[in-house]
Amino acid sequence: MLQSEGEDLKNLFMHSASVREEYCGNKVYLRGLIELSNICVKNCLYCGIRRDNKKVARYDLSDQEVLQAAQFTLESNYGSVVIQSGELQSNENTRRIEQLVREIIQLSEGKLGITLSCGEQTEDVYKRWFQAGAHRYLLRIEASNRALYQKLHPNDDLHSFEKRLECLALLRKTGYQLGTGVMIGLPFQTTEHLADDLLFMHKQDIDMCGMGPYIEHNDTPLFEFRKTLMPLNERFRLTLKMIAILRIMMKDINIAATTALQAIDSIGREKAIRIGANILMPNVTPGKHRDNYKLYENKPCTDESAEDCAGCIEGRIKLTGAEIGYNEWGDSKRFLNRKK
Ligand code: 5AD
Ligand code: SF4
Ligand code: FES
Repeated sequence: MLQSEGEDLKNLFMHSASVREEYCGNKVYLRGLIELSNICVKNCLYCGIRRDNKKVARYDLSDQEVLQAAQFTLESNYGSVVIQSGELQSNENTRRIEQLVREIIQLSEGKLGITLSCGEQTEDVYKRWFQAGAHRYLLRIEASNRALYQKLHPNDDLHSFEKRLECLALLRKTGYQLGTGVMIGLPFQTTEHLADDLLFMHKQDIDMCGMGPYIEHNDTPLFEFRKTLMPLNERFRLTLKMIAILRIMMKDINIAATTALQAIDSIGREKAIRIGANILMPNVTPGKHRDNYKLYENKPCTDESAEDCAGCIEGRIKLTGAEIGYNEWGDSKRFLNRKK
């Protein structure tokens, strides 16, 4: 199915759209995305904010900026926030995120759902954040094939494939709704790898998925392989196919229409929603910092303010024929079904 074209592809997309409609309804749920900090201890070979990229101006939002972004999310009726950050492991960082989670719950009187995407941590840290009130966690496996994973990361303890798998297991054990995902169109990646990625997500019985096209970044080691990549529009189409097939394989999970899709096609996220995605994450990071959270080139909305995105989102979603689930958490139906 990953190689579908023409009539077959149209049928695939029609089918995945109808599965979403039947199992998830016609609503798209929003999460205000707060990019807490671009400081990262890791050195992933594909990522623009990797530790060794000295060209990036590093920032760390103040607690007040985070809470203002949460307040904005609440007032925009988005229903949930995602706190995403470069990876840091320290007591200070653990305490800070724990405290921010508590404060967001307090300021929203429990109305905002909270997703974290703060990388690999110990079981104790995951537990503390869960107990503070975060209830979903995103940790992409990036590439589920060990050999490919190793080609995309430095070969050291900080970038261990086993550790990543272990973290996914710990997150599940702690009680989070578990999200993972991969990049599509990576150097060295084959169609078989992508098919295995889908099987991996199925086997892990994930609740949520965020996957997007790989977009080469000038100041990263993988840039050297840019000539081996498929063209951007093919990476884009392949991502839509991955979303459609995953929707058919895992009918009741949440699937995000990721920002990287929009970096390639200005209505890329809308296209993903049409064929099976049901989650959109408008950026609510204060405007002055957005430009510095550049994991890849051509990241959209870096010149816009949170207000601009809020004004823009509604029209965009209407265009897809879906409705917005304002003020709803929009939890993964698979998670809720599993608990029954
Ligand atoms: N292209 C696309 N996605 C990227 N990410 C990091 N670097 C890139 C890139 N160059 C993704 C990773 C990470 C997420 C936050 O961003 O999958 O998990
Ligand atoms: Fe850090 Fe994540 Fe980028 Fe890796 S992908 S360098 S962990 S921000
Ligand atoms: Fe950011 Fe449209 S979503 S400007």
